[in-house]
Parts: sequence; C-alpha cells; structure tokens
Amino acid sequence: MNVLLIGGGGREHALAWKIAQSPRLRTLYCAPGNGGMGAVGACVGLDGMDGTAVEAFVRAHGIDLVVVGPEGPLVAGLSDRLRQGGVAVFGPSQAAAAIEGSKVFMKELCTRHRIPTAAYQVFQDPQQAMEYVRAQGVPIVVKASGLAAGKGVVVCHTLDEAQAAIQSILVERVFGAAGENLVVEGFLRGEELSFLALVDGKEILPLAGCQDHKAVGEGDRGANTGGMGAYSPTPLLTPELQERVMAQVMRPLVAAMAAEGFPYRGVLYAGLMIDAGQVQVLEFNARFGDPETQPLLMRMRSDLLPLLLACATGSLRGMTIDWDPRPALCVCMVAGGYPGAYRSGLPIAGLQAAAHQPDVEIFHAGTRRQGEQVVTAGGRVLGVTALGATVAAAQQRAYEVVQGIQWEEVYYRRDIGYRAVQREQARHE
Ligand code: AMP
Ligand code: GLY
Repeated sequence: MNVLLIGGGGREHALAWKIAQSPRLRTLYCAPGNGGMGAVGACVGLDGMDGTAVEAFVRAHGIDLVVVGPEGPLVAGLSDRLRQGGVAVFGPSQAAAAIEGSKVFMKELCTRHRIPTAAYQVFQDPQQAMEYVRAQGVPIVVKASGLAAGKGVVVCHTLDEAQAAIQSILVERVFGAAGENLVVEGFLRGEELSFLALVDGKEILPLAGCQDHKAVGEGDRGANTGGMGAYSPTPLLTPELQERVMAQVMRPLVAAMAAEGFPYRGVLYAGLMIDAGQVQVLEFNARFGDPETQPLLMRMRSDLLPLLLACATGSLRGMTIDWDPRPALCVCMVAGGYPGAYRSGLPIAGLQAAAHQPDVEIFHAGTRRQGEQVVTAGGRVLGVTALGATVAAAQQRAYEVVQGIQWEEVYYRRDIGYRAVQREQARHE
C-alpha cells in the first residue's frame, strides 16, 4: 500500500515509524514531515490544509490510504473531500470532527445523550459571562469554543483571572474566530486520563490507557501546553474503570453520532477527569493524542496499518491489538519559553550519539534539517520515549537519553510519570 500521512509533529513521527514497519507498506509519504521523519518516509512539501493540493498528490502517487494526524485538516473537511473522490481516509468527517473543533457542539451533544460532563453555559457577551462567573464562584473554567492548540482553556482560581480570560478570548480575540463563543464550565477535581479508541463508525476498539502531563511546570503547575510527557499503561485505568468509560462515554457517543447522521471514523480521544472512580468528560479530540501516541505506539505489537485501514473502511469488527506489557514513558523536550514565545533555528547536539539505543526512540516534533544539522523549529522539539520493566525503569531510561541531548534554552520537566512511579512504589512497600 501507498500511504500519505498528513502532519509533522511528534505524533506523526511515531505514526510514521510504526506504519513504516508494516509488511503491507510500499511507500510512505509524510506531508510535510519534520527533521526526523525522513528516516522512515519520504517528506513532501505538501500542506494538509490545502485540500486541492492533497487530492492532486493522492491521484499522482496512487495513494491507497490517507492518514490525517492533526485536527486542523479534519475540522476543515479534508476527509470529506477525499472520501467523495473515493479515497480511503483514516480520520473523521468535518461534521464528526466538530466534537473537537467546537466545544459548544461537544457540550450540547453530551447533554443530549446524558454523557457526563461539567455543567456549563455559552456566552458571546463578556458582561453576561462575568455575571455568571460571579454567581457560580471560583474555581471555574473558561474555554474558547474553537481550536486553540490546547491553549484556549483557562482554569481560573480568582475572579480577576476569569475576567482576564473572558477579556482575552471574547474581546481581544487572541484565538480569533475560535473565541466567538465562550464556554464557562464548572471546575472538576480529580486525575486526568487519556482514553483513546479506534472507531469505524460503529465498532469501538480501545487502545491501552495513558496519561499525559499538560502543565508546563513540575508538579503539574503553570500554564497548559499541548503535553509535556506521557506514559502508558496507567494504573489509574483498571478493568472496572475501562468498562465504565465504555458504558458511560464511548458507546453512547459513537451510537449518538451514527444516529444523528455523522458517524465517527478514526481515533476518538476522550480527555477524562476521574474522581473516586467517577468519570467526567473534559474534552474530545478527533485525532491521536500528542505525546500520548509516542508511548502508545512503542507498546503496540500489532501491525498498525490494517487497523487504520479497517477504521477507514468500516471493518474493525473482530480486530484486536497486542500490546507489549512493559510500560513506555515519553519526555518532551521543548524550546525555553514554550508555551509562550520561544526561539527557533537552534542547533541540536547529541542526537546521533543518542540514536539507536535498545527500547528507546527519539521522535521529532518541531525540528528541521539544515544540511547535516538538525535545528529546532517549534515549541515541542523532541519526544524521547523508553520502554522499561517498570514505569520507574522506563522513566530512568528516558531521562538518561534526554540528558545527552542539548540545545540553547532546552527545557523539559524532570518529573514525568511521578504519579505512576509513586503508585508502583506504594505497591511494593
Ligand atoms: P480541554 O482542552 O477542554 O481538555 O482543557 C485542557 C485542560 O484544562 C484539561 O486537560 C484540564 O487539565 C483542564 N480543564 C479543562 N476543563 C476542566 C474542568 N472543567 N475542570 C478542571 N480542569 C479542567
Ligand atoms: N496531549 C494532549 C492532546 O493531544 O491533546
């Protein structure tokens, strides 16, 4: 098969690395790829947001399957356009991708189908939003309804913070049209779980459990990022909790989307808050998580390509996934300043010496090649993922490799996986 993979982040490098291992693959094209993906596929200067160009490429190169990595092209309707032309696509339609692209749509859908999520109200008027915040009290959560690269959500602990968030989203429009509607919702306590499943419109095949660290600072403090590190499996996801998530969230949602005329095909990612075994939905994503995909795919023993194709063609029924029982843990190395302003174009040292170590993969995110040199080209630059006999062992292995890689102003959290490591230690005491 010839496969075109859209995207160029850490998630896409992990997908490309895994797809490239498939005996069924002939050629893998990555559009646009990054400074690392050239090792596993052919990087082509093609923009996933340019549907006309993607369609022309698919025809010219005999592409059998298009795998869409990021949310942008999905929400813009790339899958619909390609499917109308008879091309197999891994990724939901525009209507189904609204589950991520519009928090208003997602909250309304959940409410209609009694899927547990925080109480909320939608506002266009800043005064009315602030009145509601005052009436509800803090802590409270203020969200831009549209896509904002994981940065459109502010957890507010004071009225001043809420006022500032409302001002920047609704009035200053820092997220542009994504901030036309503002969702204000109740603050949920608990621990976050990333629950991903492959879906073919009807059938649901859950992936292994994982957790990510969204906050930029150690101890999960500071601003939210796209994700600073992740691990799989997580002791949080017991078999009982898995069944509860399937019964209360995944099955009702997938059935509702099919019944309402926009069946979901692709990977459905539920961001959940778990409190004393109770499940609440924080968000849905219409794509693989990043960095979650990096540890997940390190653990996946099955061939990924037939699974992606089965989602695209509605034939997931009866398929299973074989997982490496060992935990995998990913540490994101980011540009100093991220998720705020940061510098790009800084040469990365130590990559070659760090490469080709057993049970470790270095997935590139924001990198590009400048001759022989790899330089930084984004906020999240690299993800180092290691397998280990325990989470603690995977963590230690990942950090050994991280410490050998440097650039000016590199930053990473030193505590990725701390909760799982604590749980492991508690079990052994
Ligand atoms: P979202 O993009 O909606 O998942 O929000 C990003 C992050 O903000 C989540 O991963 C949580 O860490 C936090 N968050 C979002 N909604 C809530 C909520 N209702 N209560 C507490 N934290 C939240
Ligand atoms: N790691 C969070 C996300 O992919 O949205």
